[in-house]
Amino acid sequence: MDIPVAKRLQQTEEYYFSRKLREIDEMNRQGAAVINLGIGSPDQPPHESVVAALHASALKAGSHGYQSYKGSPLLRKAFAGWYAKYYGVTLDPDKEILPLIGSKEGILHICMTFLGEGDEALVPNPGYPTYRSAVQLSGAACIDYDLLEEHSWLPDLEALEKRDLSRVKLMWVNYPHMPTGTRGDTAFFSKLIAFAGKHNILLCHDNPYSFILNDMPQSLLAVDGAKEVTLELNSLSKSHNMAGWRLGMLAGREEWINEVLRFKSNMDSGMFLPVQMAAVEALGLGEEWYSSLNAMYKIRRQKVFELLELLECDFDVHQSGLFVWAKVPPRYADGYALSDEILYQAHVFITPGGIFGTNGNGYIRVSLCRDETVLTEAFGRVKSLRS
Ligand SMILES: Cc1ncc(COP(=O)(O)O)c(C=O)c1O
Repeated sequence: MDIPVAKRLQQTEEYYFSRKLREIDEMNRQGAAVINLGIGSPDQPPHESVVAALHASALKAGSHGYQSYKGSPLLRKAFAGWYAKYYGVTLDPDKEILPLIGSKEGILHICMTFLGEGDEALVPNPGYPTYRSAVQLSGAACIDYDLLEEHSWLPDLEALEKRDLSRVKLMWVNYPHMPTGTRGDTAFFSKLIAFAGKHNILLCHDNPYSFILNDMPQSLLAVDGAKEVTLELNSLSKSHNMAGWRLGMLAGREEWINEVLRFKSNMDSGMFLPVQMAAVEALGLGEEWYSSLNAMYKIRRQKVFELLELLECDFDVHQSGLFVWAKVPPRYADGYALSDEILYQAHVFITPGGIFGTNGNGYIRVSLCRDETVLTEAFGRVKSLRS
């Protein structure tokens, strides 16, 4: 029987990593023992008190039923407390916060809620590939906006204003930016807010990296005027080593949160209560949690810098987030060529920057989610290739 997939899926390719991981699995089956420096899934566990909270809640007889679509009030309160303490943002836990099964689902839910055929959405190039696929799945069209090294990886809003923006309903932004590690600042965020207000564009800020290698975690919602135009996604995946737990949130105006909930409540039910209680514990951790995490990433980053120097790549040492972004030397056609050479000859996988969009073609991205020993081993393998 031949059942063609729906039109909406036809332009959506299988996620690059899922294809590449299959290839790496095949290499490993043949004994290659590839070191994967590609994926940004933290390798360390959450704080032990977080696992204990999960356990304690799971032991209770009343923890196993369906949960509220809006999440437990305790979790929404904990998110509000976290936003107040670390970002200086006041959010009403009953109205302005929606817990999510990771921020990735939020990207799709926002697109499905606000976009449809005939609409356009601005997506960063380079940027997290899910923005593009979620916009496409909604039926809307993507308009790439360039992020270029010569413009410090920030959008050129003046250039954008010269094009027809009348169909643009939504703009995806993400600072600290993945994959380039660029931070945003208040002046830039204010310009974004003014741009969005002027052109009637919903500004969607995806903010999962603000606690990683960043002295000043920032929320776009902290900036004057933001609440009028902005929805913000956040996540415990990176900040609390909870990527597999699927814990995220959406914050912003009550009406918009309710519209997203209208869509989401038709897709799934509330999260398992013990997971929510564990998140409450995680969100209450003190500053020492973040500083110990960052102390570890700083040591790893130094190792990655050494690897990148060996590969003769150029990079900015002041990057935030779980990766280091680097420019490949001119002797390679692009990041794919370098990535393939290192994969096939040294059995080390590094992500080619082109998978994040054409403006990433000349770059690679190295993950900090492997420990020092593994990074030293990767260095050794590449060095023996070079000598
Ligand atoms: C920019 C960006 N946004 C969102 C996500 C997804 O995060 P979550 O685990 O909360 O779904 C990732 C994960 O890699 C990411 O890099």
